[in-house]
Amino acid sequence: MMNIAHRGFSSQYPENTLLSFHKAIDLGVGLLELDLQLTRDGHLIVLHDKTVDRTTDGSGQAADLTLDEIKGLDAGGWLAPDFAGERIPTFMEAMEELDPSIILVTELKFTGNDGIQGVIDRIDERDASDRVVISSFDLAKLPIVKTLAPGLPTTALLKTDETTTQEKIDLARELKVDTLGPRYTDVTQELVDAAHAADLLVRAWGLGRDQGEEMTRLIELGVDGMTTDCPDILQRILVSRGLA
Ligand code: G3P
Ligand code: CA
Repeated sequence: MMNIAHRGFSSQYPENTLLSFHKAIDLGVGLLELDLQLTRDGHLIVLHDKTVDRTTDGSGQAADLTLDEIKGLDAGGWLAPDFAGERIPTFMEAMEELDPSIILVTELKFTGNDGIQGVIDRIDERDASDRVVISSFDLAKLPIVKTLAPGLPTTALLKTDETTTQEKIDLARELKVDTLGPRYTDVTQELVDAAHAADLLVRAWGLGRDQGEEMTRLIELGVDGMTTDCPDILQRILVSRGLA
């Protein structure tokens, strides 16, 4: 069961920062989820939103700022004064700074497909293809990743919708992904069983605070993993069940 710390230990530390990632690792978590955006000068940075407004002391679209400008922003003080001084990491820094035993569940958030080759190139430069998983809600990106780097596992993130289990399985086949990523509310026994029968993993997303019961439900359904802002709670549940 993969306990994937969503944007790091983001319920307590500033999301998508090295501090948040290190704090998740300190819990014993082996997988970190992070988001990638592109700067104006083509650098891949670890940032969820298209703008820097919510999570830094700056403003504007990341795609309109240079890496130098991004690096001048405070990415921690918005959450609490103690975290002031945290910076937005680049994708390279995340791969360099975090222990190579940690799996980076990397979500492609940037607009368009031009940045995909850069993601593959950075992974190759760090020789990190065995510790990166690529995911996206922008499903058209995933077959491109598979073509450019067939060895990289991919996850189709699914918005909540009315599609049937079979349609989800068919979509996964069409996109050549390894994992289905439904919102946790869409995970059923039928979906988990059908995905496993089709040789697909299931990892849920959207688990926030006070959701221990929901985490337990998903574990009992047999999901392969979940992203959560509270990896501390999930880790406690997994340990208590002898699963971590
Ligand atoms: O694991 C997928 C999850 O990260 C989706 O939500 O908004 O954090 O990208 P979001
Ligand atoms: Ca994400």
